[in-house]
Amino acid sequence: DKAGHKHFMAKEIAEQPGVIGQALSHYMSDTGEILLPGEGVDFTQIDRITMVACGTAAYACLTAKYWFEQIARIPVEVDVASEFRYREPPIPGRTLALFVSQSGETADTLAALRYCEGKAQTILSVVNVPESSIARESDLTLPIYAGVEVGVASTKAFTCQLTVLFMLALKAAQQRGALSDEAFADHVSALRGLPSVINAALEKNGEIRDAAQKLSHAQDVLFLGRGRMFPMAHEAALKLKEISYIHAEAYASGELKHGPIALIDENMPVVVLAPYDTLFDKTVSNMQEVMARKGKVILISDSEGLAEASEGVWATIEMPRISEALGPILYAIPSQLLAYHTAVAKGTDVDQPRNLAKSVTVE
Ligand code: M6R
Repeated sequence: DKAGHKHFMAKEIAEQPGVIGQALSHYMSDTGEILLPGEGVDFTQIDRITMVACGTAAYACLTAKYWFEQIARIPVEVDVASEFRYREPPIPGRTLALFVSQSGETADTLAALRYCEGKAQTILSVVNVPESSIARESDLTLPIYAGVEVGVASTKAFTCQLTVLFMLALKAAQQRGALSDEAFADHVSALRGLPSVINAALEKNGEIRDAAQKLSHAQDVLFLGRGRMFPMAHEAALKLKEISYIHAEAYASGELKHGPIALIDENMPVVVLAPYDTLFDKTVSNMQEVMARKGKVILISDSEGLAEASEGVWATIEMPRISEALGPILYAIPSQLLAYHTAVAKGTDVDQPRNLAKSVTVE
């Protein structure tokens, strides 16, 4: 049932404020304590996290790496499952192996989990389907409470994965004494505000549809982001390619000069993900390098960022303000809607894109 929406993907995008709220209520008490099921995880006994997943779930892991490293000060390695399993990486003691999967049935991720069995201290999984194979074979499972996701393009599962991973990073930071009480409370209050901020982002649907109309004529699109927005740029590019069939690539803004800038001309739209945060000026200077080469820029930022840097850009999408840490969860929304409206404008099969399956249970 599409609940009045044209596609499951549109319905699932719209559900995000509600399901993120669900995820928050399962892991956070009224007093702002982070609660993990069962025995939880003792992060004081862990020196390193190895995160393994595929596709969008792997981009959730790459985003979480910023949180675990910057907030909880735990080194994190992220790998796509198909590479991890055949590299036979050494797993040092006191490693937490963390697997992220919407379906919990992805063959490569499951094989990577089995490789870690008996080698890692603890096997933890973040899944949407609690009765799945990956959940069953883990020491501890954190369900994301996104509800059934039908669209092949993952949307609400991604933002719920991020929400749960962020709370896990906060828990880790607290146990390891890496955060002051005040900083912890700030993160908790930002988390509580997340559903309403996501709602405000969904209200920008019209602006995003206009930008998508422009993108729908492109052959290639480049996505740029820095810091936590770098994995988000990858996720935005993946969404666009899988449902609109437009070739899209993502680069860390700082890498532009090291090659991809050679691609830029008036036919190459560049989507820049740049909340007004500590990295904003750096990203904008990369964006200006694009515009100096006649590149057409779609700038996604907030009111402060757009006031400072929107001159001469092709299109803008205004997001609400959000704490620096939670930026990626919010910027997932315009990334999903941009892909969605581009696909609709092109008339592709949004929910069932060609050549793709919802759950990849073979290698
Ligand atoms: O079920 P999983 O989360 O393990 O699936 C992983 C990928 O196959 C999945 O995220 C895929 O990349 C989606 N089509 C992305 O939208």
